[in-house]
Amino acid sequence: MKVLVCGGAGFIGSHFVRSAPDDVEIVVLDALRYSGHLSTLADVWDRVRFYPGQVQDRCVVEGVVKAEGVSHIVNFAAESHNDRSLLSRNQFVETNVLGVSTLLDVVRDYRLERVLHVSTDEVYGSIDQGQFTEQSPVEPNTPYSAAKAGGDLLCRAHFKSFGTPVIVTRGGNTYGPFQYPEKLIPFFLTRLIDGKKVPLYGEGTQSREWIHVSDHANGIWTALLKGVPGEIYNIGDHHERTNSTVVSHLLSALSVGEDLVKRIPDPRQGAHDSRYSMRTHKIQSLGWRPKMPFEESLHETAKWYVGRQDWWRPLVSSADFIDFVKRFYGPSLGDDL
Ligand SMILES: NC(=O)c1ccc[n+]([C@@H]2O[C@H](COP(=O)([O-])OP(=O)(O)OC[C@H]3O[C@@H](n4cnc5c(N)ncnc54)[C@H](O)[C@@H]3O)[C@@H](O)[C@H]2O)c1
Repeated sequence: MKVLVCGGAGFIGSHFVRSAPDDVEIVVLDALRYSGHLSTLADVWDRVRFYPGQVQDRCVVEGVVKAEGVSHIVNFAAESHNDRSLLSRNQFVETNVLGVSTLLDVVRDYRLERVLHVSTDEVYGSIDQGQFTEQSPVEPNTPYSAAKAGGDLLCRAHFKSFGTPVIVTRGGNTYGPFQYPEKLIPFFLTRLIDGKKVPLYGEGTQSREWIHVSDHANGIWTALLKGVPGEIYNIGDHHERTNSTVVSHLLSALSVGEDLVKRIPDPRQGAHDSRYSMRTHKIQSLGWRPKMPFEESLHETAKWYVGRQDWWRPLVSSADFIDFVKRFYGPSLGDDL
């Protein structure tokens, strides 16, 4: 079995590579966009064959599939940040929609055994009570989640129209080592380590289901190896916490005070989903169970960011990162930027 991992130099993709069974050969295709770095793969580099390139580039994908004799594709490649999708959108459509379409066509044309597309609970939109199931309608509220939903629907259509052997997973909010420091947990940790203020949107009452990246990666392996083509599998951990609770844990993990939290008007406004929650019986019926306890794992993650400043300091000093933080948080953080 030879798996082409698209987006394997990013956060979840690199953990997926790290947790690959010994008898699986791994090929990574990654465009090394701002959130993709070969440093995330440093400890597993000797088992990876790497190709730079974009998933929406048919010639590149086809070339890798032919040269390597790939049997399976797992797609993590995405523009993955909601807040960035509020600033500009076309790249989200290019990668998250056109990229998925290109991969599906290559899988079909080269009769590959299976493709798994990694998606998100955010395609369902927000739910005030109860839980989304895999049958819930997709009602995305941000350009990011709309583009992800577009990719998911293409998977469904390819399966229905051509019998393409595609599986979709929809994961919850993910945390752990090697997450590019723009998302809530690593963004806050890297700022708090430097004694900088962190911007909490509104009252921080938005509720998210958090899953550790190793559990998420193992869930994707389970779906790839045991799932049924044409099916969707939710992967979540039922660790539902409000953003303000998560922030309290981060403050306590780093032994810093509330004075570093700055409550700011919500820059996502109407697009800010209040709650995500999913039923996960289907993936559990394949034998998968989450293993990582939330509070302890969050504290371990905080320790990892304290210990691996060699990994994240170059990222937060990059022109792209500084520009994004200024554009998105500049108006509300002001002098605290
Ligand atoms: N992080 C989360 O909380 C979360 C939760 C559920 C689902 N997901 C999904 O999981 C996947 C991976 O998320 P992540 O957090 O690891 O993201 P990430 O931003 O850390 O990684 C994305 C990777 O894709 C690469 N990439 C971007 N555009 C590309 C293109 N056009 N061609 C090839 N490579 C490209 C980037 O260089 C990067 O290595 C995404 O599809 C995301 O929607 C993420």
